[in-house]
Amino acid sequence: MHSSSPIKKAIFPVGGLGTRFLPATKSMPKEMLPVVDKPLIQYAVEEAAEAGVEEFIFVTGRGKSAIEDHFDHSMELEQTLESRSKTEALALVRDMMHQPGSVAYIRQQEPAGLGHAVWCARHIVADEPVAVLLADDLIKAAAGKKNCLGEMVDAWSAHGGNMVAAMEVPLNDTSSYGIITPGDSHGPLTEVNGLVEKPKPEDAPSRLAVVGRYIIEPGVFSELSRMERGAGGEIQLTDSLARRIGEVPFHGMTFSGTRFDCGSKLGFLQANVAFALDRDDLAADLSQWMKDQNL
Ligand code: UTP
Repeated sequence: MHSSSPIKKAIFPVGGLGTRFLPATKSMPKEMLPVVDKPLIQYAVEEAAEAGVEEFIFVTGRGKSAIEDHFDHSMELEQTLESRSKTEALALVRDMMHQPGSVAYIRQQEPAGLGHAVWCARHIVADEPVAVLLADDLIKAAAGKKNCLGEMVDAWSAHGGNMVAAMEVPLNDTSSYGIITPGDSHGPLTEVNGLVEKPKPEDAPSRLAVVGRYIIEPGVFSELSRMERGAGGEIQLTDSLARRIGEVPFHGMTFSGTRFDCGSKLGFLQANVAFALDRDDLAADLSQWMKDQNL
């Protein structure tokens, strides 16, 4: 069945080095780190599928095999589960499979930056708007609300152009984010008049930061192909988005969910606790244990 979403494709850049999570990420991509019992990348793929995405494009670097294997059948595992009548576990691994041909892998030959990773997917994306999801930004949907990308797709349908997920960060943290020069705001949407990658607090135009969800239009790929290096000597996605200001609409959307920076150890630990406390099979025992430990 085809979804009615105007955004049918999503790029998942998974080519970063994950240095903040060494040694865990020495031979395993950080996107395979599990929050409770599911790898980060699976949360991102499920978020995209729920938002109507039908084609999944992974831009990989080193250690791609774990991610490829994760989204493929494991015949041996399935046969073993079947022979042991582990029906629930079997359904779990079978239900996460996507239509044959709907998952593509592209290799980013060097980790030259997020913009470069997105540009590597240009031939598969062709001439249509596409979502970009960074799996290490895990966003827990608010109760009764759509997930972050779902909220963005709804807003994007009315405005088009480029859109990023946005949230206020402490002034001291601006140098870890792309920061928005805000224009007019309408509800959760803020017009983006400028974007600065990783500014020092004293240079930051606001505290409104870009987090890892984007909907980008084809003009961004033309800008990326200039291969200009920005902050940190990397080809930055935000620089190409900024160059489209004035050509097409550009909005930051403040989403209703909670974002966990799972590229950092603290954010990853917080995500594990928050997601576990949301699970019927874990919540009671975990909160009792935390009480007993005076946590
Ligand atoms: P990060 O800035 O978090 O870098 O990348 P990193 O290498 O993954 O992690 P640390 O900082 O060394 O611990 C932001 C996102 O962009 C992707 C990463 O996979 C991550 O999702 N990325 C970054 C690429 O796909 N390719 C790149 O060249 C750079």
